[in-house]
Amino acid sequence: MKLSAIEGRYSLPVFPRRDLTLVRGEGALVWDDEGRRYIDCVAGVGVASVGHANPEVAEALAEQARTLVTCPGIFYNDKRARLVERLAAIAPEGLERAFLCNSGTEAVEAAIKLARLSTGRSRIVAAMRGFHGRTLGALSATFKKEYREPFAPLVPGFSHVPFDNVEKLGEAVDGECAALILEPVQGEGGVRIPAPGYLAEARRICDAAGALLVFDEVQTGFCRTGRMFACEHSGVRPDMLCVAKAIAGGVPMGALLCGERVEPAVGRHGTTFGGNPLACAAALAAIEFMEREDLARQAEEKGAWFEDRFNRQRPARVRALRRAGLMIGIELKERARPHLARLAEEGVLALPAGPTVIRLLPPLVIAIEELERVSDALHAVLAP
Ligand SMILES: Cc1ncc(COP(=O)(O)O)c(C=O)c1O
Repeated sequence: MKLSAIEGRYSLPVFPRRDLTLVRGEGALVWDDEGRRYIDCVAGVGVASVGHANPEVAEALAEQARTLVTCPGIFYNDKRARLVERLAAIAPEGLERAFLCNSGTEAVEAAIKLARLSTGRSRIVAAMRGFHGRTLGALSATFKKEYREPFAPLVPGFSHVPFDNVEKLGEAVDGECAALILEPVQGEGGVRIPAPGYLAEARRICDAAGALLVFDEVQTGFCRTGRMFACEHSGVRPDMLCVAKAIAGGVPMGALLCGERVEPAVGRHGTTFGGNPLACAAALAAIEFMEREDLARQAEEKGAWFEDRFNRQRPARVRALRRAGLMIGIELKERARPHLARLAEEGVLALPAGPTVIRLLPPLVIAIEELERVSDALHAVLAP
């Protein structure tokens, strides 16, 4: 039986699957079980920023696996201490304390709970087209009807405003609002970058209403957009910052970084695996790699190079290219999904973001020659 058939037979089909079995990766490349090689602009959906099979992360994992894999949060731990110290150093100023968990949705879940705890209010405002995860709290902040409706009733108290619209934000965020949660650049929603000044206005409106501002940087964090965190482009500091995906070089981990307005939650929130030494060791190695190799600068330079190259002869099917660092959305005048299969035939794996956008989230270590092949493959697939 083919591996894809075995997995298809014995796992719950929650994702629309592509007929590809990936078995190995290195840098920006992955291989399938028949030895075919692909340039991976999926990267675990924006996870493998330091490259697949990063040797420094692998070494840190192997060493930690021989030392101590698990240590619950009721004890202190050396790797966890070093990691939270490091996170405080790289986070936007004032976000000094971290809650460590295992995924993006858990970071968002913690943000929602702590926003309610800290303000004594229950209402949460989120943005249309926003994506924040699939657990019930995070799903209540997520906008897409297809993800939400089958699981109704969701958590009460959530509402959605149009993204990048200051006026509607001012109307929705009032004295009963615990928090406003926004992605500084919307990922799943189509790689949407708000107008300059929008996030600053969000900060001002939250302050006036006494609400907390939460940025969901699960997808944009850790160098993806050309800065360590995307909010640095605007200079706006949130009260809480949700991160995950690239934080630990591919090992599952999430974190909620908190400022002083967030109340501690001793005895009120917790996790078994969150902050385990294995993931912390991987995160320490991944963050050290990001800083030493200046992946933020690499993301900006390589993203700009790609945009220039792709746009030299932009295919007529393309409506727009939107980009923040190496977070790239190519909006088509038609549906994106059929082109993804043809791209794979050309040796490039890519993602959709909404019905008409092809999204590229390559490892930030991708070589220029590889980006050139991605651009050529896109041109081949999108040619008239
Ligand atoms: C902005 C954002 N928030 C939250 C999540 C949920 O993260 P996870 O899938 O790790 O739960 C995602 C996942 O794509 C995301 O892009």
